[in-house]
Amino acid sequence: MTDFFASAFDAPLTRRRLVKGIAAAGAATWAANSATGRALASAENHIRKGDFAHFRAIAPSSADAFEVPEGYAVDTLLKWGDEFGPGLRFGYNCDYCAFYPLQAGKTDEGLIWVNHEYVIPFFTSDWTRAQDPTWNPRTAQHRAIMEREKKEVGGSIVHVRRTGRNGRWEVVVNSRYGRRFAADGPPIPYDGPVAGTSLVPSGGTVLGTIANCSGARTPWGTVLSCEENFQSFGLERRMPFQLGWIKDNGANREEVNYYVGEPGTNVDRQRVADEFPYYGYVTEVDPYTGNAVKHTALGRIHHENVGLRVARDGRVVCYTGDDAPAADGMFFKFVSRGRYRRGMRRAEAMKLLSDGQLFVAQWLPQANDPSVDRGQGFWHPLDMKNPEALAFTTQWIEKNIAPRVGGDLRQFRVPRAEDCEVIPGAPQRVLIALTSARGRPADPAAYGVVRLLNEDTEDPDGKSFKWVDLLEGGQEKGFANPDNMAFSSERELWIVTDVSSSALNVPGRGFEWHANNAMFYVPLRGPNAMTAFRFANGPVEAELTGPYFVPEQKTLFLNVQHPGEETPNRGGVPGNPNTYTSWWPEGNKTARTGTPSKPKPSLLAIRKTG
Ligand code: FEO
Ligand code: CA
Ligand code: CA
Ligand code: CA
Repeated sequence: MTDFFASAFDAPLTRRRLVKGIAAAGAATWAANSATGRALASAENHIRKGDFAHFRAIAPSSADAFEVPEGYAVDTLLKWGDEFGPGLRFGYNCDYCAFYPLQAGKTDEGLIWVNHEYVIPFFTSDWTRAQDPTWNPRTAQHRAIMEREKKEVGGSIVHVRRTGRNGRWEVVVNSRYGRRFAADGPPIPYDGPVAGTSLVPSGGTVLGTIANCSGARTPWGTVLSCEENFQSFGLERRMPFQLGWIKDNGANREEVNYYVGEPGTNVDRQRVADEFPYYGYVTEVDPYTGNAVKHTALGRIHHENVGLRVARDGRVVCYTGDDAPAADGMFFKFVSRGRYRRGMRRAEAMKLLSDGQLFVAQWLPQANDPSVDRGQGFWHPLDMKNPEALAFTTQWIEKNIAPRVGGDLRQFRVPRAEDCEVIPGAPQRVLIALTSARGRPADPAAYGVVRLLNEDTEDPDGKSFKWVDLLEGGQEKGFANPDNMAFSSERELWIVTDVSSSALNVPGRGFEWHANNAMFYVPLRGPNAMTAFRFANGPVEAELTGPYFVPEQKTLFLNVQHPGEETPNRGGVPGNPNTYTSWWPEGNKTARTGTPSKPKPSLLAIRKTG
């Protein structure tokens, strides 16, 4: 058996590229090496009939449909706007999700946490700049729009179970566990170095949570929901990603914070000239009780994701990436001071991430030089006694750490760290999906890469690592722009892609071969190791997000985010579905079947049936 992690540091990327081929449509995950087509002796491959990963790869598609191979059933659990309890509506743009059994060891019933990242005002509010050229959320009309939009983001807690008869998953409507977190509440307290300072609202809590992108399930049964592009909710309304809920008044730069009250309240204007350090934290939620807290010790960045492990001594190690929209971001490790013990109460375990040490990664020779695919790295500690270092994390590093260790900021920049996962059973190894790394900036078709960060020691205090780019996107691999990743077992990596909607299926943009965004299975061991098998296709202009496996149920929970996202840029007229680029899931625009309707981000359960 080949261990690609052990050999990756020896084999040049060019050679690895030659060895690995594309898993073409129809290639079986169990029977053939896709590069050579030769049949494998069954002993060489661990995939067995009935395994979730036992399937034939599907072809790329540009259809307005969600597609999986034969032998799988898809239950649409909730669509945007669906009511799942009194006053509880499923929010927009679902992203990360995780499953929490209601009874230990009984995985056919539980709670799902779902992130709702942002809104697309064209769909959520029938709003276009063309029809409404000015935006000022102080006016009654715009304020009403904003108040509605606030309820579309945050997170949902949904009670689900499998019905006996046909094994479908269904939502338990009106469950006492059902809950919504939104931008306007409930109030969430802070812990860690920034809590209790003048950098956060004087009451010690802030309303709700926003920009909830990816996340993680903790070993103690809570969710870490990452507040990513918090800046999209401020300052200006620029479609599609700037929502303009905080108004910049121009000359005197009076900030109006609509989250925490009326203009000027709770705001130390001098200290927060450009942004309020209220959002941009890892927010932990107990899905069973709704208890929540924002952990400022993990820094305030565009938190895209968290990957975590418990060290041998019980300390919790979190890896987290900054997916900065303008410049490249940074990458971090947090080590808790307290120790996790099995059986710890959730309320007690939720304090673990309040106190510890945050480190930033320095990548040598440089993390984003297309000609370099490996190197070493160092972890540099932040000053945990300084609230400013945590509330303005990357700026603080630029001023205080980069100059001290050599001054080259490029060694701290990492491009689009969309997800990170500690490899199960391999605590020193962390995979990072760099969505548009390599080839930048000269090559517009930056196809992304999955990078391995290999700690030099399993000790959480370790200060150095080695890194190597393991799996590069591109036509010869069959996938591009790796985004969220999930493991269904130690050997089974799954990757969803996030090719920009503006480039998907557009001639001349370099992604014609990819067609719609998709989900891929990548075995990590055996003869097909590091070969991407296409498992699912998303509908038009969607991104698939939040893959989460419940292996005992042979079930994958998956979200479909932003179908039809380009509609406002492609002549869409609110109220006229014929001008929308997608009708999914109630219709199929490319086949012109079903109901012409607004496309709706939705939560799916995908079951192995054959
Ligand atoms: Fe929310 Fe960086 O994607
Ligand atoms: Ca993402
Ligand atoms: Ca993940
Ligand atoms: Ca993304």
